[in-house]
Amino acid sequence: MSRRSAMKLVGLGLGTIAAAGVGVGGVRAATNGAFSAGSGDPYGLWHDWTTLSGIDRVVAAGVLACNPHNTQAWRIAVNGDTIHVYSDARRRMPLNDASAREHFAGLGCAVENMVIAAGPAGFTAHVTLFPDGIASDHVARIALRDGGTGQDRDLAAAIPHRHTNRGPYKSTPVDLGGFTEQSSRIDGASVLWITDKAAREQLGRLYVEATEAITADTAQSTEAFSWFRSARSTIDRHRDGLTLDGQGLGGLTLFAAKLLPAQSRKDGDAFWVKATREVHTATAAAYGVITVDDVTNRMAQVSGGRLLARMHLTATSLGLGLHHMNQITERIDRDRAAGSLDVFSARWAAVLGRPAPTGLLSFRIGHPERTPGLSPRRSLKDVLTT
Ligand SMILES: Cc1cc2nc3c(=O)[nH]c(=O)nc-3n(C[C@H](O)[C@H](O)[C@H](O)COP(=O)(O)O)c2cc1C
Repeated sequence: MSRRSAMKLVGLGLGTIAAAGVGVGGVRAATNGAFSAGSGDPYGLWHDWTTLSGIDRVVAAGVLACNPHNTQAWRIAVNGDTIHVYSDARRRMPLNDASAREHFAGLGCAVENMVIAAGPAGFTAHVTLFPDGIASDHVARIALRDGGTGQDRDLAAAIPHRHTNRGPYKSTPVDLGGFTEQSSRIDGASVLWITDKAAREQLGRLYVEATEAITADTAQSTEAFSWFRSARSTIDRHRDGLTLDGQGLGGLTLFAAKLLPAQSRKDGDAFWVKATREVHTATAAAYGVITVDDVTNRMAQVSGGRLLARMHLTATSLGLGLHHMNQITERIDRDRAAGSLDVFSARWAAVLGRPAPTGLLSFRIGHPERTPGLSPRRSLKDVLTT
């Protein structure tokens, strides 16, 4: 693992920091961005988004969407009043996302963020998925017409405040009523809620086991770790991937993590398993699963991503934390691609109460204890293509 790498540090304690020496630690803290979290060029779009207008505002909303491992696997072309979204296959993760469900879902998230931003920016958005056919990398054409609607105003306002929250959640139950209106907004995708305590515990055990399986798979773990950016200079250069700031650590622990030498893949994996067991699954108030007819269908993957984006923005607008958790389906796809024994599908289906190939993506929600950090983004110039 590595998406939540960083973390064994929680167990290291302040004695280690003292041992590292204040002078060396201070330099490391600066190198690792302890004093510049969430500021500077890679984070500019989060702060500037509300100052943008017109089509720039719509495109930038797409770039701020949630997306797997922060790979930002999109290329975007603007032609007059039409936005084209393409898949950037070089940013796929074949071992962690063997069926590319997350890749195409992430593109769906970008499409939906643009649709949501369009109304309040003064446009009506007309979306055509795969206009050149299902096998094409041309994932969506979004035609903007003058005449906005106020329909998605609350969700649009949440765009620059939406972040994946991997920290602990409070034990207060979540009122799911606030999600009802959005749950049926995307044809071909639905959300299944898992709130019952016994079912949550059953699913929690499955997440922990799947996390252990990923970390025991050196190739899969190594691929994930390659998207982890430790040093601030690496974040500045790539402006993508996962960072310490996004791991849901408490302020002091995060500072300590930045003071210490960069974490190894194995240490990060060990922390991830521990955090999945003791924080993520232990404090999930409810889980949501995006369901479709067939998870291998490209159109369903994009549609599922569109609904996921709506769920995440709804959670943000309600003050709830949302943490995407896809270890189980990543292992199902990985086992299938590798020709290994499928050890998760039957239990995944049992938790869902429906066939495994209908459970596309999953996440936990709850009242968060901590404010999540910002994730870096490439600039509009970097993602715009002709
Ligand atoms: C389809 C999809 C799958 C994701 N899977 C996971 C996951 O399994 N674990 C996780 O911690 N985050 C997951 N994420 C969250 C991304 O890592 C996150 O969106 C990205 O790093 C950008 O950060 P942000 O959401 O805070 O902007 C997923 C996001 C999407 C859209």
